[in-house]
Amino acid sequence: MSFQLKGKVIFFATNNINKFNEARRILSRYKIAVGMIRVKTLEIQSESLEEIAKTSAIHAYKQCGLPLIVEDAGLFVEALSGFPGPYSSYVYKTIGNEGLLELMEKTANRQAKFQSVVAFFSEELDAPICFKGEVAGEITKELRRESYHGFGFDPIFKPANSQKTFAEMSIAEKNKYSHRARAFRKFAKWYKSLKV
Ligand code: IMP
Repeated sequence: MSFQLKGKVIFFATNNINKFNEARRILSRYKIAVGMIRVKTLEIQSESLEEIAKTSAIHAYKQCGLPLIVEDAGLFVEALSGFPGPYSSYVYKTIGNEGLLELMEKTANRQAKFQSVVAFFSEELDAPICFKGEVAGEITKELRRESYHGFGFDPIFKPANSQKTFAEMSIAEKNKYSHRARAFRKFAKWYKSLKV
């Protein structure tokens, strides 16, 4: 008896189960199965999410030798000239959501955006290939999380045209708006079209 696998497979190097679950739902729509691999991450300090994602894709590839993707994201607040941007991870770990809300206590302009870069790398390539996604929205005045869904800055980010923050949404709802969903859809279309 022989079985034929319909669709494709990709490995997602991440230690973040929330990111993985969001990505898995998107990719399944394109009949792409995804495996989570935990590797030692390398996040260089850079002002470019793309540079961070590319470096970490190569670093992950060196550890496991499989064609893979990584994803790097950042929150850019307009009134803070784009801060924390590529430093989002550090800012979340240090001052967190409460600290960011405090920084913006007297700020009327609440505009912000999330950006995501998915980087794919395999041995045939000279350099990783990147796919970008973005979502505009605003920073709420207080933490808003209903039976807490999500992670990171989700409780303080409300995408444009939504009454809910990301933390008040199911994964399916978040994927209708999110930076990550947009980047992963671009990746999925490209990956599906590859003749392998
Ligand atoms: P990372 O470097 O891509 O893991 O993300 C940088 C920071 O942004 C981390 O603190 C994450 O928790 C946060 N972050 C990334 N994506 C999201 C998201 O979709 N929602 C909320 N926070 C996020």
